[in-house]
Amino acid sequence: MLYDVPVHLGDRSYEIHIGAGVLARLGALCAGTGLKGKCLIITDENVGSLYSETAVASLESAGFTVSVATLPAGEQTKCGDQVFSLYSRCIDAGLDRKSFVVALGGGVIGDLAGYVAASYLRGIPFVQVPTTLLSMVDSSVGGKTGINLPEGKNLVGAFYQPELVLADLDTLKTLPPREYRAGLAEVVKYGIIYDGPFFDFLEENIGPLSDVENAELLARVVGRCCEIKADVVAQDEREGGLRAILNFGHTAGHALEKVAGYGEYVHGEGVSIGSIFAARASVVLTGLPQGECDRIEKMFTDLELPVRAPEYEWPKLRDAMKVDKKTVGGMPKFVLASNIGTVSFGEDVPEELMEKIWKSL
Ligand code: NAD
Ligand code: GLY
Repeated sequence: MLYDVPVHLGDRSYEIHIGAGVLARLGALCAGTGLKGKCLIITDENVGSLYSETAVASLESAGFTVSVATLPAGEQTKCGDQVFSLYSRCIDAGLDRKSFVVALGGGVIGDLAGYVAASYLRGIPFVQVPTTLLSMVDSSVGGKTGINLPEGKNLVGAFYQPELVLADLDTLKTLPPREYRAGLAEVVKYGIIYDGPFFDFLEENIGPLSDVENAELLARVVGRCCEIKADVVAQDEREGGLRAILNFGHTAGHALEKVAGYGEYVHGEGVSIGSIFAARASVVLTGLPQGECDRIEKMFTDLELPVRAPEYEWPKLRDAMKVDKKTVGGMPKFVLASNIGTVSFGEDVPEELMEKIWKSL
């Protein structure tokens, strides 16, 4: 079964194809969008050893000439040195303006390979094949590509849309359980920011959601998240306003990731604690009923995600929140909820309240 979600962006529109076992259809789907000739698969060691062979076979059987670049796994791979070495790999593989890049992996590979595609020869097509839950529901959709600098995360990048996205749900079976749970934090986010009934549905399916073999449920859940993201991005591709709602829970989450030392929390774990922070601020500032805040907290707890932050010095957390990319005039801006399914963005949270909430976590 293939569940298709369109992303409507005029001449940059594309389809997200979701299903179990669909990696074998990669070549046919690429050919179907009009891609031709040579391609370079960019992957990491973990994903490449599991899925490169299927991806190469599928692309070759559809007539493509395929090269593969396999990089070390992990966030440190998303850097300038790798970009330059990948340009050389593109040249070695004979890629011209009609050739394309395939990003086979999680958000690290998707962001890096997307940025290489956006900049090599001033831009060649690329295809996203996300293999983590986070990359299926978030990073592979919407065209944000980029790399980290020593000074901070995602500081260089481009908005650059893929030709298609192919999410094979079977790949989630090999994902480390901690990474899978972290992806669920982003799934819950979509219910909070956009779709109350979807949040209710997730609440009723906490147990089944932990079962990566449940392809039917996963297709529905990944599909709904992609529909919401596609809808938001279609209205605000370059984050002039509305797209900021996708950052619910992220301001506090990023600060925690930074203060704890990158690697202590995976991204979705930071988002889980950051979402509790945002929900508690919403009770005070935007009228989120306390009962709805409790439901949000219970959801993350039931999904076995962290909801309590260990004690860090408040000034460090405050300073980390102030250097968030979304800071305006030195003050972090928050996405806050007035109900589950309805949020506003660009909200200020007074410093005393921020401190009080952090200390309550
Ligand atoms: P990741 O790409 O580092 O993958 C996590 C780990 O899982 C890695 O070790 C990887 O090798 C392994 N892995 C991936 N798929 C696997 C599979 N199917 N089986 C076994 N192992 C597998 O992490 P991620 O959480 O996918 O992505 C995080 C990155 O995404 C960050 O750099 C973040 O900045 C970025 N991001 C980007 C956007 C965007 O809109 N572009 C949105 C959110 C996050
Ligand atoms: N992950 C946030 C965005 O795509 O805007």
